[in-house]
Amino acid sequence: MSSVGINFVYVVSAALFIFGLKMLSSPATARRGNMISALGMLIAVVVTLLSQGMDYRWILIGVLIGSAIGATGASMVKMTSMPEMVALFNGFGGISSLLLAWSEYHQHPEMATGIAIIATISVFIGGVTFTGSMVAFSKLSGRISQKAIVFNGQHLINAAILAVVVLSGALFCLIPGSTSGYLLFILIVLVALGFGITSTIPIGGADMPVVISLLNSYSGLAACAAGFVVSNNILIVAGALVGASGIILTKIMCKAMNRSLANVLFSGFGTTTAKGSSEDGPQGEVKPASAEDVYYILEAADTVAFVPGYGLAVAQAQHVVKELGDLLEENGSEVVYAIHPVAGRMPGHMNVLLAEANVPYDQLVEMDEINPRMETIDVCVVIGANDVVNPAAAFEESSPIYGMPIIETFRAKTVIVLKRSMNTGFAGIENALFYRENTRMFFGDAKASIQALVSEFKGSN
Ligand code: TAP
Repeated sequence: MSSVGINFVYVVSAALFIFGLKMLSSPATARRGNMISALGMLIAVVVTLLSQGMDYRWILIGVLIGSAIGATGASMVKMTSMPEMVALFNGFGGISSLLLAWSEYHQHPEMATGIAIIATISVFIGGVTFTGSMVAFSKLSGRISQKAIVFNGQHLINAAILAVVVLSGALFCLIPGSTSGYLLFILIVLVALGFGITSTIPIGGADMPVVISLLNSYSGLAACAAGFVVSNNILIVAGALVGASGIILTKIMCKAMNRSLANVLFSGFGTTTAKGSSEDGPQGEVKPASAEDVYYILEAADTVAFVPGYGLAVAQAQHVVKELGDLLEENGSEVVYAIHPVAGRMPGHMNVLLAEANVPYDQLVEMDEINPRMETIDVCVVIGANDVVNPAAAFEESSPIYGMPIIETFRAKTVIVLKRSMNTGFAGIENALFYRENTRMFFGDAKASIQALVSEFKGSN
C-alpha cells in the first residue's frame, strides 16, 4: 500500500475516533461512540500491519493473548471495579509506549538528538504511567492500603528524582549511540518506573479516579511521543486525542470537587479524618423513619428526585430504584434522577448504573438543572450519597469540602436519606443534612430499603 493510501486510511480512522469521542458525551450515544472508535482503531491496526511486511506469527500470538486477557477481564469485572480495570489498561498502554520507544532505540541507537529527546519523553512518561497505574490498581482493589502514604521530605525526594531524569535525559540525548548512552537510557527507564510509584502512593484511594484519568492522559502523551519515534501518524493522532481527553476529564473532576489538581496530587487528602463540619458538629436531632413512614411520604408526593451516590453502587440497588420510580410514576408523581458529576467513585458512575437498569435518559438531570428548582421538589430520596449532598460544602468555611458544588437537597420540602448508619462518606466529615428539620433517615442497606418501599406500594394496590 502506498504511503498516500495508508495516510488516507489513517485520516478515516482519526475521524472515527473524533466522532466516537463526541458521542461519548451523552449516555444515549456513548455505546455507539465506543463501537465507532473501536472500529477506527481496528482499521488503523489492520492497515499498519499490512503496510509493514513483518512476521505475523508474533503478532498473532500477541493478538490472541491480549484478546483473551481483555475479553476475560471485561466480562468478569464488576461495575464497581471498573476504575481498577481502567487503571490496568492505562498501565498496559504506558508500558507499550515505553517498550516501543526502547525497541526503536535498540535497533537504531544512532538517533538524531530530536528523536532521542522524544524517545526519552516517551520512555519516561510510559514508565511513570505503568507503575503509577499499578499502584492505582492495587489501591482500588485493596491489594495495598488505600491510605495516602505521606512522610516528611516526600516532595523533596520526588523533585530529586525528577532532577536525575532531566540530567540523565540531557546527557543521553548527547551520546545516544554509545555504551554510556545505553546505560543512561536504562537508568531513565528505572527512574521512571520508580517515580510512578513514589508520585502515586501519597494519593488516597478515593482520589484514584482523578489520578487514573490523569494517568490516562499520560499514556496518551507517551503513545503520541512513541508515534514520533517510529514515525507513525495514527499513533501520534490517537495519542494526542487520549492525552487531551484525559486532561479534560481530570479538569472536570477537579472542578466538580472544587479542588485543584495540585491539591489532589500533593495534599495527601484522606490521611486524616475530620470529625465534624463545625466545632460543635451538626446541630439538631436525627429522625429515623420506617418503610411505612417513607411510603406515606412518597405516596403523597407530586415530584420526587432520587439522588444516588456511592452507596447505590455498593448496594447494587439500581434495578429496584427503577422499579420504585416506575411505581411512583404510576401513582402520578413526576420522577427525576439528579446526578452529581463526582457521585460514586468514577466518572459517570451513576449514569452507568442507572443505564444498566434502563432508566430513561430524559429522567436524568444534572446538578445545575435540579438546584434552581429544588424548592419545588416534594421529596428528595438520597440513596447512599453523602458528600455530594453535604450542606457543609455550602456553609462551613472550615470544612475540607467547602466550595464543592453539591446537589442542594436540603432546600427540598422533604429529604429521605437511605444509608446504613451515621458513618461519614469519602471525605470523612459529618453531614448536617441528616440532622435537619426536613430530613428523615431511613437506615438499612439501600437495596433492602427500596425493596421494602416497593413492597409497600405493591401491597397497597
Ligand atoms: P460518599 O460521600 O462516599 O458516601 C457514600 C455513602 O454511601 C456512605 O456515607 C455510606 O454510608 C453509604 N453506603 C455505603 N454502602 C451502602 C449501602 N449498601 N446501602 C446504603 N448506603 C450505603 O459518596 P458520594 O456522596 O457519592 O460522594 C462521592 C465522593 O467521592 C465525593 O467526596 C467525591 O469527591 C469523591 N470522589 C469521587 C470521584 C468520582 S469521579 N466519582 C473521584 C474522586 C473522589 P453508610 O456506611 O452509613 O451506609
